[in-house]
Amino acid sequence: MDTHYFQHKGICFASLLYSQERLQYLENEFHVRDDDVYLVSYPKSGTTWMIEILSLICRNGDVTWCREVPNFMRIPWLDVGGIGVKLVDEVHSPRFLASHLPIHCFPKSLFSSKAKIIYIARSPKDVLVSLYHYAHMSYLMKKPSSFDELMEDFLQGRVPFGSWFDHIKGWMQMKDKKNFLLVTYEDLKQDQRGTIKKICTFLENELEEQAVDLVLEHSSFNSMKKNNMSNNTMVPDYIMDTKNNQFMRKGIIGDWKNHFTQEQKEYMDSIYHEKMKAIDVKFSWD
Ligand code: A3P
Repeated sequence: MDTHYFQHKGICFASLLYSQERLQYLENEFHVRDDDVYLVSYPKSGTTWMIEILSLICRNGDVTWCREVPNFMRIPWLDVGGIGVKLVDEVHSPRFLASHLPIHCFPKSLFSSKAKIIYIARSPKDVLVSLYHYAHMSYLMKKPSSFDELMEDFLQGRVPFGSWFDHIKGWMQMKDKKNFLLVTYEDLKQDQRGTIKKICTFLENELEEQAVDLVLEHSSFNSMKKNNMSNNTMVPDYIMDTKNNQFMRKGIIGDWKNHFTQEQKEYMDSIYHEKMKAIDVKFSWD
């Protein structure tokens, strides 16, 4: 199947699930409610993991919802058209919605609301590796002919949702706002309990220790991999080939070391330093 992209506000989107009309509607007409919570990320940063964590926090650690309802119905994707529109329309307040939109495409009504944003970020080298494998299973991405080719497209922002650098720099404009929480994939891997508690505090939903234990247990890589409602095997075949590939691939920090040559590492580091020099946030991967 051929994958087609279209451009919207300088960003590349896959025609299979996205449309100009939906994006224009979202930006200009979609009404963000004060009690909404948005999970925002660049693709392959740990969004699915965070969907699981948020689903479990909302249910006090009870895994029933996560075992019975696919993740894209628990926390629907704001951005997608077609069936996705219905899921967003039907979700009850307080709404939890997921989005990969860069800040300049996000509903404008966010900026005059009290809605909460949780932004999950991940080291761009690991994002790129995860994206490379994802490109071979998803019909939302053009298949790269080599890792080098995808690296160049990634660094130039010629991939769905645009440049990783612009995405993160855009959203970091909100970093000092009290309705914004930055979480990294690396924070979650290195201190999952502490990070879950931070998220609970941000959501004003403190959990008992036993409930936090349940969130930890049921959002672990192995639990999610076994759960068909969480491992994306419920995603329709025309979007993703989960018969021959695993969405829950490795779930580790630093897999880039198994994919990058020294030359590729130096090249990406030099672009990273150039593009990120003006940002005053220190990331664990810096
Ligand atoms: P890898 O391809 O490196 O394994 P997203 O949901 O934003 O598309 O991100 C997908 C990445 O998150 C994949 O990374 C996937 O394996 C990883 N992931 C999903 N659930 C996870 C979990 N519970 N623990 C660690 N990594 C997880």
